[in-house]
Amino acid sequence: MRLIDGKAIAQEIKEEVRDRIASEGIKAALAVILVGNDPASQVYVGNKKKACEFCGIRSISHELPAETTEEEVTELIRKLNNDPEVSGILCQLPLPEGINEKRVIETIAPEKDVDGFTVRSAGALFAGEEGFLPCTPAGIIELLKRSGVELEGKNCVVMGRSNIVGKPMAQLLLRENATVTVTHSRTKNIREITSRADILVVAVGKPMMVDAGYIREGAVVIDVGIHRLNPDENGGRKLCGDVDFESVKEKAGLITPVPGGVGPMTIAMLMANTLKAAAASCDSNRRKFRNALSEMRRSLS
Ligand code: GUN
Repeated sequence: MRLIDGKAIAQEIKEEVRDRIASEGIKAALAVILVGNDPASQVYVGNKKKACEFCGIRSISHELPAETTEEEVTELIRKLNNDPEVSGILCQLPLPEGINEKRVIETIAPEKDVDGFTVRSAGALFAGEEGFLPCTPAGIIELLKRSGVELEGKNCVVMGRSNIVGKPMAQLLLRENATVTVTHSRTKNIREITSRADILVVAVGKPMMVDAGYIREGAVVIDVGIHRLNPDENGGRKLCGDVDFESVKEKAGLITPVPGGVGPMTIAMLMANTLKAAAASCDSNRRKFRNALSEMRRSLS
C-alpha cells in the first residue's frame, strides 16, 4: 500500500498559485464570510486565511454574530459582488439555523463563486462548460492525476450523492472518461458494487464505515470524511475518515490518510479558483479599458 500525500500535493499547488500571482502581478482578494461560532468552521476559515497569506491573496474577513439575519448576509454579499477589489466570495457553511443556505449561496455572483456552490456553477459542470469547480471533487481529480493514477476507462465508484461532493465528483470522473457508479444510503448490495471499483471515493459522512469488505485488492481509495472522535473510540487517533484506515490499508493499493489527504486539497483548489477569478477579472478590466479607449478614439476622430 502507498499513501497519497495530500498535504505535499496541496503545497505544490499553493506554490504554483503563489508564483503565478507574483510573476504576473495579479491582485487577488478573497472575501470570507463566517456567521456564528461553530468551532470546526472557525478552524476551516482560519486555515483558508493562512493559505491566502501564503499565496499572496488578500483575505477580507467578515465574521458576523450568530444572530445575523439572512437579509444582512445577502446584503453583504451583494456589496461584495459589486466591489471590484473582491475577486472571490466564500460563505462558510453551515449557516446558523433560520438562515436559508440556498438563498444565501445563490446571491453570490457567478464570476465570484470560488466555492463552485451556485446552481449556475453546478449547471456549467454538468453541461461541460467553463465555470468554477467545487473545491473538494476538483482537488480529488488533481490528487489522482498528480499521483499518476490513470482515470480513462477505469471503474470508479462514488459513495455518497451530496451536491458538494458526490454528484460533482461523478461528473468530473465522467469528464475524465471513467465509468462511474454512484451509491447512496438506499443502494442494495453495496459491497458487491464497491468491491468492483478500481477507484473508490468515499463521501458518506459516517466515521470508519468502509472496511476491507468494501474494497477490491489493489484499489485506489479516496477518503473524503473527517470526524473528530474521543481518543478511545479510534485507537488513540483523534481524527478519522469515512474509511476504517487500519482495516483497509493492507488491501488498498493507494489510499489517502485522514488528516493529510483530501482536506488540504480543498483549500489548495480554493486558492486556485480565487486566482482564476482574479485573472478573469483582470482580463475583463483590460478588455473594458481597451473598448473604452477605442470608443474615445472613435468619438474624437
Ligand atoms: N463547509 C464545509 N466545507 C466547506 C467548503 O468547502 N466551503 C464552504 N463554504 N463551507 C464549507
